[in-house]
Amino acid sequence: MKTICVVGVGYIGLPTACMFAKSGFKVIGVDVKKEIIDNLNKGKCHIKEPGLDELLKSVVEAGSITFDVKPVVADAFIICVPTPLNSEKKANLDYVKKASESIVPCLRENAVVILESTVPPRTCIDVIKPLLEKSGLKAGNKFALAFCPERVIPGRILVEIVDNDRIVGGIDEKSTKLAKDLYKSFVKGNIFETDSTTAEMVKLMENTFRDVNIALANEFAFVAETVKINIWDAIKLANKHPRVNIHQPGPGVGGHCIPIVPWFIVETDVEHTPLIQCARMINDAMPRKIISILEKIVDFSKKPVISVWGVAFKANTDDCSYSPATDIIRLILHKGGIVRVHDPFVEKYEYPIMTMKESLKNSECIVFMADHDAYKKLDPKSLENMMKVQNVLDTRNIIDLDSWTKAKFKVFKFGDKSTFF
Ligand SMILES: NC(=O)c1ccc[n+]([C@@H]2O[C@H](COP(=O)([O-])OP(=O)(O)OC[C@H]3O[C@@H](n4cnc5c(N)ncnc54)[C@H](O)[C@@H]3O)[C@@H](O)[C@H]2O)c1
Repeated sequence: MKTICVVGVGYIGLPTACMFAKSGFKVIGVDVKKEIIDNLNKGKCHIKEPGLDELLKSVVEAGSITFDVKPVVADAFIICVPTPLNSEKKANLDYVKKASESIVPCLRENAVVILESTVPPRTCIDVIKPLLEKSGLKAGNKFALAFCPERVIPGRILVEIVDNDRIVGGIDEKSTKLAKDLYKSFVKGNIFETDSTTAEMVKLMENTFRDVNIALANEFAFVAETVKINIWDAIKLANKHPRVNIHQPGPGVGGHCIPIVPWFIVETDVEHTPLIQCARMINDAMPRKIISILEKIVDFSKKPVISVWGVAFKANTDDCSYSPATDIIRLILHKGGIVRVHDPFVEKYEYPIMTMKESLKNSECIVFMADHDAYKKLDPKSLENMMKVQNVLDTRNIIDLDSWTKAKFKVFKFGDKSTFF
């Protein structure tokens, strides 16, 4: 096995391609976005991820990776393209289908095709296999086909891509083994073997577990408000139980996985998934809960300026995909408010990113959305006299009540008495 073609070089595909290049393979990274390809060939990374800049530069300089807009003949193909939701809350497999079709002319006997994009169960067998067989080669017999889901977390991708345990599921045993051999080149975690449909379902179950448990924490937060107790304290105490691990409530869930993936299970079996559907509704409604709190703090009829801080969906990353902060901004604008956005990690976003100082001009409230370390460590005294009214709404329980109060801020915290109006 010498050449690997990675189709789709985004958050998942680029680190994967670079790791294979570092492990001695000749890698071709493919993407439909020409601008990305041109920059990557110059060693310029379009993704902010610790260590990725350096890794990319080193493999580009070593000549072990190149980038192109179309796949080429290779020994292995790894598909890492997006699988967003469509308007019917079903998996949009168009990207996966197009990527598979683009491989067909380059597919040769004994090649291995691995899907890493998250998909509904049976996609490898029912969708990818027939598309690839348009090459005239039979899957299993003439080429291997497997699903190998990604479990990495943005911000720690280069660590987790190596250390995490992985699941590899082929359409037959030979496919599983060939795919596993490939990942063994850099994965230090265990690589567990299964079939492709089980591997597809395992990935969906992992993310759905998190979604349902966050929804449970959010539901507890609502009840805590009814009985007037602090949800953060209550969860901390409940988690002292040796077999309890309640998740954290918050303003909603984001990212490519948690808000999307549970729907892939629902579309597969709508009748038997009431719990999953309910959890999705609860977590999707959280931005509206935060706005209902904000309405008690500012008067939207007077077009208040609101500083939304932390638009990435995850702490210490620049990934804004499906971030609940975007929903909150839209809701503020819809109510007539003016939004000023700050995020120390994010450069490109659908609303202008400002410095802290700019974003506080005439502001009547800071809304903390992401739990970036920079916000946790912030000295509130450094923000004194920059705002019109010194209100702060903490949706993540990240700020210290005493120090912010001492700095003359009126502190509102989701889940404690300050927001039980
Ligand atoms: N980002 C995560 O943290 C994460 C974690 C686990 C799984 N996943 C899954 O991995 C998959 C990829 O996610 P991502 O975050 O890397 O997406 P991304 O949007 O960051 O990157 C996907 C890339 O694929 C390219 N692309 C689209 N169609 C193409 C085609 N036909 N040929 C070549 N390139 C094409 C896009 O231009 C883009 O650059 C998704 O299914 C996602 O659910 C993501």
